[in-house]
Amino acid sequence: MDLKLLHSLNQKNQGRPPVWLMRQAGRYLPEYQVLRKKYSLKELFFTPELAAEITRMPIDLLGVDAAILFSDIMVVAVALGLKLDFVEGPVVQPLLTPSIIDGLCCDLEKLEPIVKTIELLIPELKVPLLGFCGAPFTVATYLIEKHGGEKFFETKKWLYSSPKSFEKLLERIEKISIGYLKMQIEAGVGAVQIFDSWANILSKEDFRKFCLPSYKRIIEAVNVPVILFMRGAGAHLDDLAGLPCALSLDWQMPMHEARLKTKQTLQGNLDPDLFFAPLPIVKEKTIELMKSMQGDPSFIVNLGHGVKPNTPVDAVRCFIETVKGII
Ligand code: CP3
Repeated sequence: MDLKLLHSLNQKNQGRPPVWLMRQAGRYLPEYQVLRKKYSLKELFFTPELAAEITRMPIDLLGVDAAILFSDIMVVAVALGLKLDFVEGPVVQPLLTPSIIDGLCCDLEKLEPIVKTIELLIPELKVPLLGFCGAPFTVATYLIEKHGGEKFFETKKWLYSSPKSFEKLLERIEKISIGYLKMQIEAGVGAVQIFDSWANILSKEDFRKFCLPSYKRIIEAVNVPVILFMRGAGAHLDDLAGLPCALSLDWQMPMHEARLKTKQTLQGNLDPDLFFAPLPIVKEKTIELMKSMQGDPSFIVNLGHGVKPNTPVDAVRCFIETVKGII
């Protein structure tokens, strides 16, 4: 087993840092597109053999140091008793309003196929498997409104008009997310990542009220290392530095500057658009990042956000092989 990722999460990695990519099991891979033409996204997420096959793709094709479960942050909607579809992004039915949150269920059995996917993967993977969930605030935005158009209008309207019921909704999502993470851990994931893609739209005050406390509770509830991805985390390092978890950072703050502000394990932080540049530039920027964190026992090389669709696979390979010292 290649344990580099776990060593970095435990702050004792030696030699080169581990490398993986957010959204590594996705649309830029031709092998994924072949399956995607045959099946809907929901079929891919809820059919253990297919989800396991896609999870393995970047390991076999690119040689990353960690696998991330092929699933989506919005599968918890199914356990809440809502209908989930993917039309460009996740769409739930019915969209939530304050009057219907008492009717939500908490049926984690609906997520059993995902546990089965993990069980299929664990015996054969030679790298750690990461589980994940969405942070309650980000999941709430997709439960309240269809993204697109005037993003977050309904979410903010609810949050400002009825903060108590908004908190109640977040508590429901938090409870189901903790249960879901525990299922993943019991099935064998070695670490988990929390994705908070939209917390950055909140004021600092509301971030502290609606997001930060739930990070703490989720991290305390699980017994494996946690990585927190929050878009724009650099602007909240004062609050995030105190959490007992690793931080996934985007490219707005240089890694070595973040290192001066916290001892936590740091993950990141190249811009996914870099992969559209010529390969020598991909290599140069990767080496620059590695040099800036050289010898750091608590560093994980990654992007600052997910790999984009249409990313040239050669650029992703160049990035990974540069980190591994192969090229
Ligand atoms: O990282 C991985 O490779 C594991 C799988 C994974 C998916 N979604 C599969 C997926 C992970 C970790 C996610 C997280 C996720 N899902 C987030 C948080 C991270 C982020 O990107 O901000 C969010 C906000 C979602 C919600 C979601 N799911 C959106 C907005 C979309 C559509 C647009 C997009 O980003 O692709 C999805 C669909 C989805 N989830 C796809 C994949 C591979 C697209 C697949 C396809 O269209 O074939």
